[in-house]
Amino acid sequence: MQLSARLLRVLAILLVALPTRSAVHAANDTEAVGAAGHDDDRPSPPCSPADRAALLGFKAGVAADTTGILATWAGNDCCGAWEGVTCDAATGRVVALQLEAPPPKSRHYMQGALSPSLAGLEFLQALVIRDMGRIGGAIPAAMSRLTRLRELYLEGNMLAGAIPGSLGKLGSLQYLSLAGNRLDGQLPPELGAVSGLEQINVARNSLSGAVPPSYKNLSRLAYLDMSNNLLSGAVPGFIGQFKNLALLDLSNNSFSGEIPASLCTLHSLTDLSLSHNKLGGQIPPQMGSLRSLNSLAMDDNMFVGSIPASFLGLQKLWYMNLSRNGLSGPLPTGIRNALPSLVSMDLSHNHLIGDIDQFFRSLSTAINDVKHSNNPSQIVLPQKLEHLDLSENRITGALPDFARGAGLKWLDISSNAIGGQIPISISKLSNLERLDISRNRVRGIIPASMAEMVHLQWLDLSSNALVGRIPDNFTRLTSVRHASFRRNKLCGQIPQVKPFNLFHAAAYAHNLCLCGKPLPPCRKI
Ligand SMILES: *[C@@H]1O[C@H](CO)[C@@H](O)[C@H](O)[C@H]1NC(C)=O
Ligand SMILES: *[C@@H]1O[C@H](CO)[C@@H](O)[C@H](O)[C@H]1NC(C)=O
Ligand SMILES: *[C@@H]1O[C@H](CO)[C@@H](O)[C@H](O)[C@H]1NC(C)=O
Ligand SMILES: *[C@@H]1O[C@H](CO)[C@@H](O)[C@H](O)[C@H]1NC(C)=O
Ligand SMILES: *[C@@H]1O[C@H](CO)[C@@H](O)[C@H](O)[C@H]1NC(C)=O
Repeated sequence: MQLSARLLRVLAILLVALPTRSAVHAANDTEAVGAAGHDDDRPSPPCSPADRAALLGFKAGVAADTTGILATWAGNDCCGAWEGVTCDAATGRVVALQLEAPPPKSRHYMQGALSPSLAGLEFLQALVIRDMGRIGGAIPAAMSRLTRLRELYLEGNMLAGAIPGSLGKLGSLQYLSLAGNRLDGQLPPELGAVSGLEQINVARNSLSGAVPPSYKNLSRLAYLDMSNNLLSGAVPGFIGQFKNLALLDLSNNSFSGEIPASLCTLHSLTDLSLSHNKLGGQIPPQMGSLRSLNSLAMDDNMFVGSIPASFLGLQKLWYMNLSRNGLSGPLPTGIRNALPSLVSMDLSHNHLIGDIDQFFRSLSTAINDVKHSNNPSQIVLPQKLEHLDLSENRITGALPDFARGAGLKWLDISSNAIGGQIPISISKLSNLERLDISRNRVRGIIPASMAEMVHLQWLDLSSNALVGRIPDNFTRLTSVRHASFRRNKLCGQIPQVKPFNLFHAAAYAHNLCLCGKPLPPCRKI
């Protein structure tokens, strides 16, 4: 959870950073012109009456404004005190209009419609109306007259209807974001003619249909986010020709078919998400050549076959999610030197086989780490690894001895066929916050050493074959918020302290003879 939130944050930063940087450039350009004007001691020309009229047309379309921005739009000098308006100081023409809700964004909004009069700002290079929440209605088709426009950001509003095909006439457009609106209908094929586009973000709308073939012309794209829509059809093979592509997010749509092999030639790609679609077939082994990849999300699709060995070798990959597919074959081994940046790996909900001991052994850095490990048969996990989910597979074997858990916070190996005992050395995974071993075949006792894992918040040992007591010194595990010991062969008194005596009785049910709160008191012998 924490990591997917982190991924989202990375994406959000990208989203914000790209437009801001380029918008600043536009403003910077005009400032340079303005400065020259002042040096010459020439007064700036007044704001163009045509532009002023166009802006007032926009203002008239806004019925309510809690941001206070439009209150500054008074008087004749639209180039002076009007917030969000930037003019070319030499000509007095409006070149940028940037309206963003001040934080907290949820509280400030503009309500109304986008007036077509905006199309009168014929020298406009940047139009940003972001996070206004209640700007609704259609995107005016007349926007196509803004032929100097390089940046069009209309994200975080309530715009509805189809994306007008006339936007295909914006021949100078480089950055387009219509994300987070209520747009529906199909992606306009006409947009394929805007061959200078570097960024398209139409995420979080209700767009449907296929990606138009005309988009094959958009070869300068560096950023393509179509996530969270209702798009369908194949992932177009021509995307593989977008050599600058750094981010491709097609997640949460209904794309089907296989991953086109051409996608694997995108050497600039850093973030690829295909999550939550209906994609299938084998994962192309050539994906291992996506050598810039930082994050790879293919979860919740219908991929089959095995995890390509070529994945091992992605030097920059820190996030990999292949959860909820039909993947079979062995767990990847030999990860140690091959995925040096790995922070999070989720292979859960597949049909993977393999030995848990061998898997950890292949991750272990013990061999390179003589200083911290006097016994190379003990596992030293890579320093960066925080999140490992192997749950709901067909993994066998027994947990190995750990020498050091480094940064591992989340370990889920539940619902497999893992046997053996819980090693006493599991306490070396001292930063674990979540440990789930449930629904396996683990035998033996619960080691008292686990009381040293003081960061544990979630502990699930249910549905195994554990015997003996719940160790008395579990009283030290005060951070635990959820624990289950259900369906084992445990006996004896439950630690009679918070939180263990407060969990629901179900957490202790179906054991041999556990007693004490929340179960009935132990019988005195
Ligand atoms: C991986 O994807 C699954 C299914 O979409 C999701 O539930 C899980 O939280 C993701 N894992 C990580 C570590 O983000
Ligand atoms: C923007 O301004 C900075 C300094 O203020 C300058 O170094 C840079 O070249 C300017 N960029 C453009 C595109 O004008
Ligand atoms: C693609 O671009 C070429 C040249 O840039 C242009 O001639 C052609 O009409 C474009 N195709 C489409 C479908 O826009
Ligand atoms: C998928 O997208 C829809 C909007 O099209 C959204 O309501 C839903 O929450 C998204 N689901 C996920 C898992 O992000
Ligand atoms: C837990 O109890 C055992 C003996 O009952 C003891 O050897 C061990 O040091 C204790 N560990 C902690 C962390 O208190």
